[in-house]
Amino acid sequence: MSKKFPHAQNAPFVMEMKPGRYAWCSCGESQKQPFCDGSHEKVGMRPIIEVITETKTVAWCGCKSSEKKPYCDGTHKKWADKEKN
Ligand code: FES
Ligand code: FES
Repeated sequence: MSKKFPHAQNAPFVMEMKPGRYAWCSCGESQKQPFCDGSHEKVGMRPIIEVITETKTVAWCGCKSSEKKPYCDGTHKKWADKEKN
């Protein structure tokens, strides 16, 4: 793997979401971030299935390190700090 960390980006994907069932990519390999495209099979991980019941703005975790997956909790800031050093 060429990436330094298993993340897709050092920031959340902020999106307006409609009610539905979503498969959030936990592995960082999907080409359809922040959602799963099946690429996890090569790294042995699984998506997190999230059900959204009302239209709302969602900050999906892009760094894949949140303690509140699949949502951003600010943990991505530590990756940004590490890349500066
Ligand atoms: Fe990442 Fe499915 S592609 S969890
Ligand atoms: Fe992962 Fe914010 S993008 S915690």
